[in-house]
Amino acid sequence: MKKITKAVIPAAGFGTRFLPFTKAMPKEMLPIVDIPTIEYIVREAMDSGITEFLIIINEGKECIKTHFGKNEVLERFLTEKNKTAEIEQINELPSKINVSFTYQYEQLGLGHAVLCAKEFANGEPFVLLLGDDVYVGREKPATKQLLEAYEKTGCSILGTLEVPDSDVSKYGICEPFEKTTGDLIKLRSVVEKPKLEDAPSNLAIGGRYILTPAIFDYLENQTRGAGNEIQLTDSILRLMAKEDVYSLAIDGRRYDIGSKKGFLEATVDFSLARADLADAMKEIINNRK
Ligand code: G1P
Repeated sequence: MKKITKAVIPAAGFGTRFLPFTKAMPKEMLPIVDIPTIEYIVREAMDSGITEFLIIINEGKECIKTHFGKNEVLERFLTEKNKTAEIEQINELPSKINVSFTYQYEQLGLGHAVLCAKEFANGEPFVLLLGDDVYVGREKPATKQLLEAYEKTGCSILGTLEVPDSDVSKYGICEPFEKTTGDLIKLRSVVEKPKLEDAPSNLAIGGRYILTPAIFDYLENQTRGAGNEIQLTDSILRLMAKEDVYSLAIDGRRYDIGSKKGFLEATVDFSLARADLADAMKEIINNRK
């Protein structure tokens, strides 16, 4: 089986939950401490062995391109000041991975955004990482866990988390085949943002996928679904008639950066996890007790 080397990151939404910040700035550039959210996501995939990235943007989000490219003016400035650590820092990603960009001109839904990656995938399976979900894997990065499951199955795999009843209507929800247990489960169906009474389980799609290229056959003619959007989940359901699709419970902590609470939690936890900031963050928290 050919190794998966490609990842797709959709970043073309308007980010309305984070207005007014997102009026001029992409929500993907929201910093968790001093690193833009999208860099954590790229690093998760890079640390899992992915080398080719496609980021789907819209007009006005060109600063994401700037972030992942070389910046010769800044590099010259840092060289003159002998700031070698900083030079290494800004050049690390451009030297290790290839990041390309494409535009989604109409915001018609996640399925429509993923279709923009058809040429990039070029008939190969790929990882899809959604920008709102940042993971800290317990032992391995979330993407690595999915890639290992792909090596076992050769099928599309949806990374999942258990959500409370109150949240099922916010996610794509998986229906496992009867009597399947364990972390890697064969699925019977998926449904996007069901009402609680219609939800087949509490197993939610958590913003990480491995998709086989057959998904594009369905995305190309996908009709609108939940929220009147072209939904990826609806195409995955149709894909299940042709190929097996699995879910894998992701072992790790997820931060929903799309929600303000999740963003704040990530800021606190990521500071506490950093040697240079842990004491400062503890002091801030303790002073407020
Ligand atoms: C998207 C997907 C949904 C998934 C969720 C995870 O929804 O459509 O299936 O569960 O991401 O974050 P969104 O949050 O973009 O509405």
